[in-house]
Amino acid sequence: MASAELNSIALKMVARKKGILAADESTGTMTKRLDSIGVESTSESRRQWRQLLFQTPDIGGYISGVIMYDETIRQSDDSGISFVELLAKNDILTGIKVDNSTHDLAGAPGEFITEGLDGLRGRLSEYYKLGARFAKWRALITVGEGRPSDYAIRVNMHALGRYAALCQEQGLVPIVEPEVLMDGSHSIDDCRSATTRSLVAVFEELAAQNVDLEGIVLKPNMVISGSDAPNRAPATEVARQTIDCFLETVPTNVPGIAFLSGGQGDEESVVNLDEINKIANQEDLPWELTYSYGRGLQAAPLAAWLGKTENVAAGQAAFQKRGLDSSAAREGIYTS
Ligand code: 13P
Repeated sequence: MASAELNSIALKMVARKKGILAADESTGTMTKRLDSIGVESTSESRRQWRQLLFQTPDIGGYISGVIMYDETIRQSDDSGISFVELLAKNDILTGIKVDNSTHDLAGAPGEFITEGLDGLRGRLSEYYKLGARFAKWRALITVGEGRPSDYAIRVNMHALGRYAALCQEQGLVPIVEPEVLMDGSHSIDDCRSATTRSLVAVFEELAAQNVDLEGIVLKPNMVISGSDAPNRAPATEVARQTIDCFLETVPTNVPGIAFLSGGQGDEESVVNLDEINKIANQEDLPWELTYSYGRGLQAAPLAAWLGKTENVAAGQAAFQKRGLDSSAAREGIYTS
């Protein structure tokens, strides 16, 4: 794939006013989400949920791309239009989660490794034929006593490099997601240190494996206090530390950075992104800074829907509100 084509897809993914909807929950994760609203998780109920999101009337105003799961990319709406086609009609790109989730890392208690490299080339080729133009692979880094270890960082970032190189070979833009998990009582400085080490390592691997940085989108955590930390840092500090961390570690030819919400509260994920973009509006930063939220976009509409046909419009209104708020935050002009 020509580098110019990958670059134009990446730029479209991080276009102004828009962000990425992560609707790629594995069946296990989606089952937990549906359980939480008392809905049985079946292929059909999962299809109904994704249809609600994808049919939201003005979705193209705040969503540039949707990350799907293997089941979802093969599904269609009630009228038989494939989800890929439905989104394309709204100028939305289809993405696909291609990792096989995180597993315990041998010899490193409390740390994880993401699996899924075996056979990946063939799967990417099939997803491209199904209409996907970008992919996602999430590496998970935990913070705690002695964590993250150099070992966990090295093997996870190496796998991200291998995935990214294969994606570009097959014509897909890789979302490179080294997530430093928010779980724990660690400080924002501990998060900064783990994030810096992870980003340095991942860009070393991408360079070593000949990945074209103009054809990727980085999906990191924000630099943020642990969810159980006493005196969690305010949004202004999250924004400053996040940007300073990226200025030290992220090459300037990466087109864009799309944050995960990572379990932040709905308001928190929007206010932090807004503060980050307020700084971006004042300083000349080299990358677009947007969202690629899963829970941050879906929690409110899921609670409004409750699996009931009569609540579809309420679910879509809640999704629209989360999308418009995130879009305003992506521009640094959010007001609560
Ligand atoms: P959250 O925004 O819920 O963290 O999900 C984004 C994602 O895709 C994680 O891999």
